[in-house]
Amino acid sequence: MPIVAPSLLAANFLKLEEECKMVNSSEADWLHLDVMDGQFVPNISFGIPVIEQVKKVITKFCDVHLMIETPENLVPAFKKAGADSIIVHYEVCPNLHRNIQQIKELGMKPAVAINPHTPVFLLEDILADLHHVLIMTVNPGFGGQKFIQHSLEKVSALRKMIDERKLDVLIEVDGGVTVENASSLVNAGADILVAGNTVFSSKDPLQTISQLKAVSR
Ligand code: DX5
Ligand code: ZN
Repeated sequence: MPIVAPSLLAANFLKLEEECKMVNSSEADWLHLDVMDGQFVPNISFGIPVIEQVKKVITKFCDVHLMIETPENLVPAFKKAGADSIIVHYEVCPNLHRNIQQIKELGMKPAVAINPHTPVFLLEDILADLHHVLIMTVNPGFGGQKFIQHSLEKVSALRKMIDERKLDVLIEVDGGVTVENASSLVNAGADILVAGNTVFSSKDPLQTISQLKAVSR
């Protein structure tokens, strides 16, 4: 069964408490939190004060996706706000190994995200240090975009790299994930399904989460 991680970006921000309680009562395993800086990505979302408030209600593992430049400056503050894992982007971390060590030393699970144009082989020398890899299946910055089909090949290639090295690194996919494409992603080797609009725009979010959870390899 995949780990299902609803993305709060697609929630109703006027009803964040209700939305968090819905996630708490669902079969979701994680809550995915998208932080954007208007520099690395052409959008701004929410940050530390919002995550602090969400943390007061949420009972699930908080997976914080940092779409920001120089994440090292803010990683300690995100730890304090309640992050359980931190995802940094390969594209903005020239000293990626140091970023990963910082996240680990603060007691969080470290992860790296790669954009649609970034090949998976670039992760070869960092893979063993990671808890998970996030393969962006859309260009980061916005919810509700169309899934990029080529991502499936990237998931398969990364699965092969992880299995050949006998590592237990998890593969997360993020962007345009639907109930329809979830099984092809899981079959290609994805372990964690992030879903924003598929969950929060659903007429029955609890049932949609159950449907994602029921996808099998
Ligand atoms: C996009 C974010 C995603 C986003 C996914 O930059 O990283 O997590 O919330 O939204 P959907 O599932 O609606 O594509
Ligand atoms: Zn995300």
